[in-house]
Order: sequence, then structure tokens, then C-alpha cells
Amino acid sequence: MHTKLAEGVYWVGVADWGIKHFHGFELSTHRGTSYNAYLIVDKKIALIDTVWTPFQDQLLENIKELIDPAQIDYVIANHAEVDHSGSLPAIMRAAPQATVVVSKRGAESIPGHYHQPWKFQTVQTGDKISLGNSDAIFVEAPMLHWPDSMFTYLMGKGILFPNDAFGQHYAACARFNDEVNQAELYEEAQKYYANILTPFSPLVTKKIEEVVGLNLPVSMIAPSHGIIWRQDPLQIVKQYQVWAEQKPEPTAVILYDTMWEATRRMAEAIGQGLAAEGIAHKIFHMASSDRNDVIAEVFKAKAVILGSPALNNGLLPTLMPVLEDLKGLKFKNKIGAAFGSYGWSGECVKLLEEHLAACKIPVAVPGVKAKWQPTPDDLANCENLGKAMAAAIKQG
Ligand code: FEO
Repeated sequence: MHTKLAEGVYWVGVADWGIKHFHGFELSTHRGTSYNAYLIVDKKIALIDTVWTPFQDQLLENIKELIDPAQIDYVIANHAEVDHSGSLPAIMRAAPQATVVVSKRGAESIPGHYHQPWKFQTVQTGDKISLGNSDAIFVEAPMLHWPDSMFTYLMGKGILFPNDAFGQHYAACARFNDEVNQAELYEEAQKYYANILTPFSPLVTKKIEEVVGLNLPVSMIAPSHGIIWRQDPLQIVKQYQVWAEQKPEPTAVILYDTMWEATRRMAEAIGQGLAAEGIAHKIFHMASSDRNDVIAEVFKAKAVILGSPALNNGLLPTLMPVLEDLKGLKFKNKIGAAFGSYGWSGECVKLLEEHLAACKIPVAVPGVKAKWQPTPDDLANCENLGKAMAAAIKQG
């Protein structure tokens, strides 16, 4: 079913309520997602993005409510990732005369995915395509979040289609931001930013300044996932500017895994030290915690405290996914510390501190190790670690 955004502009996407893991199993999507495609019906007809392949029939049905898909003149492919381009083959079978509009890097990535002899038009920032009463204007947005990423702006209507930027993995029966639960919406928008866009934060700021500098009126921001920002649409732009600064809250997260509860007891003693100094914290047992939810908490917090017992002269393998994320997401303005139990080799703290260094998270407080099960003194050392970390957090 389609939804009207403005005269001649329609959402023709699909809500995917059932998807709980995205990118294979890389990203959890507890609230599902949507693949937002948009149809502009003017003298010329343009489709902005498509939907993931399994939903191609639904996309075509939605378009058929408005026009014959054979009438499509342009398919604007803002980004090649298959959640947005996956139905291109079906659309191009229905409208073989259509031109696929891509960025310079999209001219590599779209053919690289589909290997089809479609008619392409490559555009760069500032280029326009006249659709009749309105023009589509393009802004390249490389690495937000692929090299090919591009924004499309519909002049006259003031609608920005920024593809993945400003999106959320959030299936809803409503289409607009003023129709949904605000806490859910912002929780998903922030989780999306933290897990996908954090490493590109300097580019986010630069791109926002560039787009704002164009002085274009923005009546709506219509991303390729989740709800459309209609009420005060620039609120999400301002929020992205804040998130891009990566100024954490004075809080801590403790991430650990444990075999026989020794490292868990240490984690909780560290938490007691933080709490004694008035620092809010959350403790995550990584063997049973959702990695992406944890990353959203890390994004917000100043301190990251890592714990693992030693296993085979190394760390518990269950910690590796989140440790890889910490490295890849390149969080800024954090401080860290490490702790763990051991039986004989005892390199867990050293390895975790090396990992923090690789993540460019400075170790603010010396680590604590405990042999076998922690003694009362070991637990007191953990509590002191928490207190010292609280002091470091307060210093900013
Ligand atoms: Fe980068 Fe929603 O795909």
C-alpha cells in the first residue's frame, strides 16, 4: 500500500516486521525495518531506490496502485546495497526503457551487482534532472555509508531523500515521525547511528554543513529505512550533529564474559566502586547480550571497562565480536580499563589493554587480575578500580 507525502510524491516501500537480524547476522533489528522506495509522478516519473529482493512483488503492487510501472522514466539508485537496489532487476524488467541514475561510484557498484546492460546516467553534486514541474537535484555523500551513497533532493517539494542517512531500523504501521512513539524512534535512530555511522562522524558533520549551506528549504527528510521526518524535519539533522561530536555522558559500561563466575564477581565489584562515587553504569555479560544494543550503550558512555578470564593464553572467544566492533567503529573521547581472572598464564588484562590501545581508547586506570576465584582483597581492588575510573570520568 502506498502513502502520499506530497502532491505527486509517494512512499511505495515495504515494512519488514519479521527481520530481526540485518546484514546476515551482523546487526540486530528487534523492531524490524522498512525499505523505503519513493515514486515521483510528474511529467516524467522517477522511482527513488527500490526494496530488498524478497519484497519486489510488493513494490511493484504499490507502484501499480499509482501508475503502470512501464511508465517509469528514471530509477534513481542512491546506493547499491541490496536492501535498496535488490528489486532493480524486477523494476527494469517492467520498465526496460528507464534510465538508472547513479553517482560516479554507483556507476561501478550497481553494474558490479547486476551485470545488466541497462541505460545509466551518472550524476554528481549539483546535477539536476527535470521531471516537469519539479527537478531532482543530487548531492554525492561518499562513505555515508558506502562510496556510492548519494542524496536526492526534490526541488519545489523540499523533500530530501538521503538514503541510509537519518534512517532507523524500525517497522511501523505509520510512516511519519509525528505518528510514532518518540522514545522508540530515537532509540532506534541512535542505535543505527552508533552501529553504522560512528566511524564516519567527521563526514557526517561535513556533509550536513554542505547541505545546510545550500540553503534549500526542507519540508521532509525521507530516508530509506524507518519513518519519514515530517514534523520539524531538521530535528534529526541537529541530533546527528550532536552525535557526530561524540561527546559521551559521564557514565560507564562494563563488558565481560565469565566461565565460573570469578570475572563476573569482579565486574560487579567494579560496578560497586563506580556507584559509590555516583557514576551510573551498565554491566553486560557478552555471552548473553545483544552486541548491537551494547554498542549503542558504549556510544553513550565515557568509560569502557573490559573483563575476561584467560583461556588458552588468550581471551574468551565470545568477547571477540564486540572487541572487533570497538576497533572498527573508532569511538572517540572514551577512556578504558581492564580486569579478569586467571589460573596460570594470566595475560587477560594485558591483552585487553592492548586491545583498548588498538581501539585508541586510553587506559585510564591500571587493570586488576585475580588468580582463581577473587579474594576479598581482589574484590576490594576491583571496587577501587571502579572508584578510580569514576574519578577519571569526572575529570572529563
Ligand atoms: Fe546501506 Fe540500507 O543499506
